[in-house]
Amino acid sequence: MVVRSLMIGCGSCLPGQPVSNHDLAQRVDTSDDWIVQRTGIRSRHIVGEGETTSDLAVKAAQQALDQAGIPASRVDLIVLATTTPDHTFPATAVKVQARLGVTSGFAFDVQAVCSGFVYALAVADNFVRLGQARTALVIGADTFSRILDWEDRTTCVLFGDGAGAVVLEASEGAGTVADRGVLSTHLHSDGRHYEALWVDGGPSATQTTGHVRMNGQEVFRHAVSRLSETAAEALKANEIEPGQLDWLVPHQANLRIIEATARKLHLPLERAVISVDHHGNTSAASIPLALTEAVGDGRIKRGDLVLMEAMGGGFTWGSALVRW
Ligand code: UT7
Repeated sequence: MVVRSLMIGCGSCLPGQPVSNHDLAQRVDTSDDWIVQRTGIRSRHIVGEGETTSDLAVKAAQQALDQAGIPASRVDLIVLATTTPDHTFPATAVKVQARLGVTSGFAFDVQAVCSGFVYALAVADNFVRLGQARTALVIGADTFSRILDWEDRTTCVLFGDGAGAVVLEASEGAGTVADRGVLSTHLHSDGRHYEALWVDGGPSATQTTGHVRMNGQEVFRHAVSRLSETAAEALKANEIEPGQLDWLVPHQANLRIIEATARKLHLPLERAVISVDHHGNTSAASIPLALTEAVGDGRIKRGDLVLMEAMGGGFTWGSALVRW
């Protein structure tokens, strides 16, 4: 028998009202046509004044706990992936811990930008499998609107704010791919691409927060290759054929990237969960947002085999194969 991290609940939070491409075109030199054709994005959500990453994270986490049907006091680990913490320190995870009323265990943030959720899931899964935690909250939460340069149309139309969370609980499995829970995780980074997608500020470098800067075409090119590689790697590690997958839950950055990745996997697009159209790129929140939507509307059912994959600044990338 082996210890597996079962996913026993998920939740999400999108702030305020949707902001459409037409709304954005009022303040930025862009158009609905350009954004839809190049990205598939139609609208995104943006936090209101004073609203923070932890506000969204707490709501998503509470919903995940409610769906799991367990009290927050049972949580002994919180791993929160974010690039937009409330403050430079402490970790946003400890604020979430306190606001959920959790007074034991430990909580910390993980920084892997758009790959953040896959990284946080891998970290939490390892703690659970080693027996150092039993019930973990894995949260992806970001308020990218706070670090966008609203004068830069090549980036500001792409991102949105949101949060998503899953609850993991230790459970005994047979050690086969028939087990429910996290079957494997695969992480990578290559820091040679630091400035292809980065923020031009930071406490140590500039003592400012800075703004998102991106070489979109370079990121696009790498995204399709790296995502296909890490998806194939997850399948190979578990001796699974693409045809056995029930769902692909990819990072939601660009519909064209999702289409290209599905094509390389020989997976029909109908088996990819797509939510980028209505929340844009929410960075670490995008996978749990898509997952929560597909679980909520009954697409993802108990026992389904789900492949998650993401790529982001760093570059970082990775995948996770999960039986729901
Ligand atoms: O989460 C992981 C990180 N992010 C990603 O995965 C994003 C990866 N990259 C992409 O998704 C795409 O590269 C973008 C959507 C960012 C850009 O699409 P593209 O097809 O690579 O466009 P481009 O950068 O080559 O720009 C094409 C044209 C340019 O005009 P010229 O030079 O051809 O006259 C841009 O100035 O589109 C122009 N443009 C815009 N026009 C209207 C750029 N942004 C906009 C805009 N509205 N918002």
